[in-house]
Amino acid sequence: MTILTGKHILLGVTGSIAVYKSCELASKLTQAGAQVDVILTPAAEKFITPLTFQSVTGRKAFSEADLWGGQAHVLHVGLGHSADLLVIAPCTANTLGKLAHGIADNLLTITALAARCPLLVAPAMDVGIYTHPATQDNVRILAERGVNFAGPAEGRMASGLEGKGRFLEPVELLGHIRLVLGRSGQLARKTIVVTAGGTQEALDPARVLTNRSSGKQGYALAQAALDAGASVVLISAPTALTPPVGTRLIAVTTAQQMLEAVLAESAGADALIMAAAVADFRPQRVAKTKLKKRDGIPQVELEAAPDVLAAVSGMGSRRPQVVIGFAAESRDLLENAEAKLKAKNLDMIAANDISTPDSGFGVDTNHVTLLFSDEKKQALPLMSKSEVAETIIARLTLLLENK
Ligand code: CTP
Repeated sequence: MTILTGKHILLGVTGSIAVYKSCELASKLTQAGAQVDVILTPAAEKFITPLTFQSVTGRKAFSEADLWGGQAHVLHVGLGHSADLLVIAPCTANTLGKLAHGIADNLLTITALAARCPLLVAPAMDVGIYTHPATQDNVRILAERGVNFAGPAEGRMASGLEGKGRFLEPVELLGHIRLVLGRSGQLARKTIVVTAGGTQEALDPARVLTNRSSGKQGYALAQAALDAGASVVLISAPTALTPPVGTRLIAVTTAQQMLEAVLAESAGADALIMAAAVADFRPQRVAKTKLKKRDGIPQVELEAAPDVLAAVSGMGSRRPQVVIGFAAESRDLLENAEAKLKAKNLDMIAANDISTPDSGFGVDTNHVTLLFSDEKKQALPLMSKSEVAETIIARLTLLLENK
């Protein structure tokens, strides 16, 4: 189950070579459980056929011929009315202009006028066309009307030109779709701070002390919070992951930087989820130049790194309403987690079993028990990190409601 499951998405496709990426988008949406109805403009049909889309969505893809078919009178109104979201991707400058000025001269633009759902537009055009004052005026008119935009990005285009106008990648489009669908969720108007990844403490200019955290659980939490409509600040130690579309990313490296960012962002936030694996110890001294083998084996003295949650606990009235921690444990899971729940003054802790290969660092699944300050517990089966994240966000929503 994700925010896309069971959603009815209308995907409008206009005449751009970028249309090949829309097939992948339609496929990804369908795989995520959405019901995808595609409408092609006559120009789109010059690049691709309805059959291509039908083959990935498993549903009829509509084209101009359907505008004049037997069901025409109900089609454009019906499609627009039953949809949760109309996405026009790729959207040419021509269709952008028609949308801005209420022109309804094909099945897609008529449907756009009839639709009562949110509209998300992903422009795709050459840089000169995108930056033309006429196009920019149209973008402004639509933005002022509350239309959502996904891109365009800067980069190389099919014409060989470089600049703003590039169609986003399907995975980015998917992120924008989730963002619009989630907007009215239960965490709308809430600000959630999520930390992720493993901090790094320098030993010398070349070496760091770090841990095995991949950041996957934290990033999944950020996505789940966005899906529920929250404004999400993601404070991330270095990871190989791409932040979910819509997060405000604050990149940090050390425990000290994590501490400063968390204290600054948590003040005024509704909740904090500390999924990051923060260093407990750091080298007392950082060598200014690289430690050399010829100088012998270095004796590294460690000192305590700041405990971020302990500092949050001391924030007084500025502490977020709900604070959630993680306990990564390889033995005595529940006892250790319970002790941390109390010591760190948490509302909830996710006790994370890292003793098995399918749970904890690096993998896509996690085995977690949730413990609450009122001594209640919820043991979760082995789940994907996304499912764990959705469960935690659902519990967070209840905790906020009961505050
Ligand atoms: N944490 C923190 N600051 C630290 C270390 C940990 O805020 N310097 C947070 C983690 O983000 C997590 C929780 O504290 O939410 C528990 O982290 P964990 O590493 O399991 O526990 P520690 O407090 O470090 O205790 P120990 O290493 O003894 O298990």
